[in-house]
Amino acid sequence: MQRLTQQPAEQYSSFRLPYFLKQVYLADKIADLEQFTGPEFPTVLGEGTNTIFLDNQHKPVLRYLADGKTLQQLGDDFLLHVEAGHNWHQLVSWTVTQKLWGLENLALIPGSVGAAPVQNIGAYGVEFADRCIYVDFYHWRHRTVTRMPLAECGFGYRDSVFKQQLQGLGVIVAVGLKLSAKATPVLRYPGLDSLPTDANIGQIFNRVIEVRQSKLPDYKELPNCGSFFKNPVLDQGHFEVVAKAHPAMPSYVQSDGIKVPAAWLIEQAGFKGVITDQVGCYQKQPLVIVNFGLTASEPLLTLIKDIRDTIKQHFGIELEPEVRLLDHTGSHYVPG
Ligand code: EPU
Repeated sequence: MQRLTQQPAEQYSSFRLPYFLKQVYLADKIADLEQFTGPEFPTVLGEGTNTIFLDNQHKPVLRYLADGKTLQQLGDDFLLHVEAGHNWHQLVSWTVTQKLWGLENLALIPGSVGAAPVQNIGAYGVEFADRCIYVDFYHWRHRTVTRMPLAECGFGYRDSVFKQQLQGLGVIVAVGLKLSAKATPVLRYPGLDSLPTDANIGQIFNRVIEVRQSKLPDYKELPNCGSFFKNPVLDQGHFEVVAKAHPAMPSYVQSDGIKVPAAWLIEQAGFKGVITDQVGCYQKQPLVIVNFGLTASEPLLTLIKDIRDTIKQHFGIELEPEVRLLDHTGSHYVPG
């Protein structure tokens, strides 16, 4: 296992604030993880496309880099076992070249395979949970890998047991995904609904890439961490009150409530395309906050507070961050 010191955080977070990570461990096998015996355990990081370091990091950071994959036929379906360090989009591209259906709607999502279950990545009508069979989790205290079947992963909208009860307790080392050789197109999301109903896997993959590239900034040019806030899900009573005052508000019925697009709320609140102190909401998709040259995290924290306060005041809705914000101790920063 490699151990690096005084690493620039820009290389470990796509939001690229200019802080330092005191120690970074690069592990590539389970035996490396066994070397961490506590009492403190490192912060686990994938490719850093959903994590913002708000300050210098004193707590060690760990990346698990093993990236092997194996494919096994299970009747009509296939089981793809992939180690956590594999890049997500490269995996999706490979499944498309193999004509194995299931992941094509999740093309171009930045980050690693190991990060995918943590926030149950989702886009264009498909979530990680829809394709997951199991997640292999190395528990720091048990010092062993447990295979957690889908039902134990507690997946919800941008949520999982790994973000909740198991947060900080171990490392996702591999996942098992169900893929299909039979065509199973999911075309209901706006942007994909104009494709023919018998669209092939390559057409869907390419369209998802096109739609994403037309709206979302490339973090290599404009540092960002994708959607900054979750889309709020309101209960019926709350929704009716807000919708009465704001009849133009778009909404989507879910099994657990009514989802309202945070991008719409942010646009209505006047933040779309506005840059103050080198940080702002992206012009084409205001749910994405872009770092336009920040030298510290304070202007970002001010913007987060401004957006949350304004939306609370105008709509009576609380926006919750979707990205992981870490303070200097490696603890989660919760905006007040
Ligand atoms: N909208 C506006 N103004 C805009 C853009 C969007 O009002 O400038 C409203 C529209 O009503 C639009 C709605 O927002 O219909 C939804 O927009 P979009 O389809 O772009 O999706 P989103 O809800 O903003 C979510 C995910 C994205 C994912 C897309 C596509 C979350 C937090 N974000 O965004 O995921 O790519 O759907 O499925 O759920 C990410 O998590 O980092 C991410 C990019």
